[in-house]
This record gives sequence, C-alpha cells and structure tokens, in this order.
Amino acid sequence: MKILKINGGKQLEGTVSISGSKNSAVALIPAAILCDENVTITNVPNISDIDALEDILEYLGAKVKRTDNGEISIDSCNIENKPIPEDASKRLRASYYFMGALLGRHKKIEMYFPGGCTIGARPIDLHLKGFEALGAKVVQDNNKYTITADELVGNSIYLDISSVGATINIILAAVKAKGTTIIENAAKEPEIVDLASFLNSMGAKISGAGTSNIKIRGVSYLKSCIHEVIPDRIEAATYIMIGAAVCKKLTVENVIPEHIYAPLQKLLEMGVDLHIDGDKIEVTNKNKLRKVNVRTQVYPGFPTDLQQIIASLMTQAEGESKIHETLYENRFLNLYQLCKMGAISKVEGNKATIRGKTNLVGTDVSATDLRAGAGLVIAGLLASGTTTISGADYILRGYENIVEKLKKIGAKIELIQI
Ligand code: EPU
Repeated sequence: MKILKINGGKQLEGTVSISGSKNSAVALIPAAILCDENVTITNVPNISDIDALEDILEYLGAKVKRTDNGEISIDSCNIENKPIPEDASKRLRASYYFMGALLGRHKKIEMYFPGGCTIGARPIDLHLKGFEALGAKVVQDNNKYTITADELVGNSIYLDISSVGATINIILAAVKAKGTTIIENAAKEPEIVDLASFLNSMGAKISGAGTSNIKIRGVSYLKSCIHEVIPDRIEAATYIMIGAAVCKKLTVENVIPEHIYAPLQKLLEMGVDLHIDGDKIEVTNKNKLRKVNVRTQVYPGFPTDLQQIIASLMTQAEGESKIHETLYENRFLNLYQLCKMGAISKVEGNKATIRGKTNLVGTDVSATDLRAGAGLVIAGLLASGTTTISGADYILRGYENIVEKLKKIGAKIELIQI
C-alpha cells in the first residue's frame, strides 16, 4: 500500500501540464484489438489503470510496445480469445470494454464483473441489453459473464440512462456488426467523441458521437492508424481547483476549456480568479470564495467525478455550499475524511452540505476512491501541519505523476510505499 504525506499550508506557484485522458485511454486500448493491423496511441497517461489494461492485452497474446513518452503500439493480429480471469477483470472498471471489443472481434467473451472505485452499485445491465439487441446471448453465472453470438446485426438501441460505459461498449460491439446500429440517448462525453474519432481513423463509420444519437454502420476491416488521446478534463479541473485553493499563480496547460465549461462556470460563480487563454488556464487563490450549489449531471453538466474535489474547495467558501449527487449512491465517503481535518459537513442520502470557511488541520485520512483521494490532496495542501493519506494507490490510478507535478509547483509532498 502507498501513502501520500503532505506538509500543507504553503502558497504554491508554477505551471502544470495536463496528461492524456484516463477515461479516454482506457476505452481506446481495448478498442485497439478491433484493428486488423498495428495501431499506435499517443499521449497515453502513465497510470496504473493503463498498466492493468496492458497486462490483459499481453495475456491475450497481443504484442504491446509502450514508451516512456506515452506512446503505445498494439498489434493484436494474433490474439487468442481466452477467458479474462477474475483478478484481471476486477483490477479496474474499464476491463469491461474487452466485452464489447472481443465480442465485436471474436463473437465470444468470457469475463467477470469489472472492478473500479466503490462509489455505488454500478450495474452493467445496459451494456448487456445492448449486446443482446445486436444478437448476442448473455449467460451470467454469479459474477461471470459468457457472451456469444453467431453473428452481430445492427439494431436501434435506446439507453434508459446515458451511460458512458454502455455507449462505448455498444459502439465497440457494433463497429464490425452487419448493418447499421443506432444508439439513442447515448452519452455525449468527450471521451466518446475521442473513441469514435479513433475508430473512424481506422475506417469505422461512426457518426453523431457527442450527440445523443450515434449511428454506426458496420465495416469488415479496420486499418492501422495513429491517434492522440485528448487531454484529461477531470485532471485539468482538479489542478484548477488546486490553483484556486493554494496557488499564488498556477498556469494549467494543455486544456480543452470547452470540455470543462460547467466546472469553470461553477468556479467563477464561487468567485475564483481564473483566465482562459487558448489551451491554458491561469488561476490564483487571491479571491475570497463564495458558497455554491452543485448538482452532478451527465456531460455537459457538472461531472460527478469533480464533486468530491470541489467539496474540498467548498470548505474555504463562506456559508453553506450544497452538493446533490445524481449518478452514484455512495460518493460522499470523502466528506467523513474531510471532517477529520476540521470540515463541517452533513450527508443526507444523495445530498450533502459543507459549511465554511474552516481552517483545515492535517491528520491521518484515507482515500476511499480515486476522486475522494484527489479531494484529500487539495485538503492536505490547504491544511496546516502534516496530512497522511492512506490508500494513495487509488489516486495513482488516475493522476499521472501527481507527486512530481505538485513538487514542481512547490508542494511538500511525498509518496511512501509501506
Ligand atoms: N448505469 C446503470 N446501468 C448500466 C450502466 C450504468 O444503471 O448498465 C448507471 C450507473 O450505475 C450510474 C450511471 O448509470 O449511476 C452512469 O454510469 P456510467 O455508465 O455513465 O459510468 P461508467 O461508464 O461506469 C464512467 C467513468 C467514471 C465516471 C462516469 C460518469 C470510466 C472508466 N469511468 O463510468 O469515472 O464517473 O463515467 O461520468 O470511464 C472516475 O474517473 O473517477 C470515474 C468513476
């Protein structure tokens, strides 16, 4: 287990460059096995979720070359369609993209219920419903899934919820299916647009990605391509919030501001001093913060992945801020940890309040999931004294070089293996 030790209460200053998107890269890598030739993906973040996917690719027999500068080349021409073992399935959420990709490629996949952060039940019924609509048969034995098809045939699929994972998995299964698939009420997140653009570069025929109606016309062959992963919008907003909390001046580079429009509006409403200049955002902590209300929504609304992070900033705003979490049932565990540091917060069902301004004090806390951990990093940077965050492995799943990036702007932070 790893712990992060932060000596907080210091003013930071400098520049941080945003890495490739985790949630995009974790879909692109399984998608690569649909390619009939070699593919290269660049700007892949060096995080442990990518290591886990690389291990699954290698287990299946793909030839993978990964460089230190974020390039990964995948040749899956000769992969074997073996069942994905339970421990590999459970290492991360995105292992389930092998369901759509292997079904699309080999018409068969055997694997287990995926892992990922414990922020709610996170069922996969819509993924399975989508596969069945394309002609697949799903057999579930406890947490093991065997999904097979004689052939996959395009269909119209309406998603009851605009699920990111279900939209991606259905695209993966439909890309090489016979005929046309239409996904209605599809998720519109930028990661879906990135996946569609990757597959289209290989010769897929996907239109409408980024809208709620995606059309996929099946093709039989996908050719080699080189694709660059989009910048990570959640990492970008995390650093902007770090800037608003503890930085005399922070320049966050390599951002697509449009991807974080809702969080930026919320930060402006809070009174944060920030300026957008092309793909750079400059932010300072010079302004007093005001209370705000946040309601999580699917894209382009305020992302659920950022509510645990803005919660730490809310401890510095005068008055009572409110969070209404509409996607997950269990995404407030961070608040119990924040209270140990002096925050005043109350949770009732899927709503929470945070009353500020409070002076946070460093203590021992625990990262219960990835974004909870990122929120605690902000709290640790704000707090006087030393904050020790256990469960730091969660944070490393999604933030490339977080320790190095924070040290570069002057933070006193250390990663310790225990
Ligand atoms: N849902 C269902 N049935 C399904 C699928 C989803 O009921 O078959 C529900 C979920 O339980 C949830 C809602 O629909 O309440 C939305 O879930 P979605 O499928 O969109 O989420 P996901 O694909 O499992 C991805 C990201 C999450 C992010 C969500 C929402 C990846 C690997 N994960 O999860 O990222 O919170 O979309 O934007 O892309 C994170 O990065 O910390 C993280 C958790």
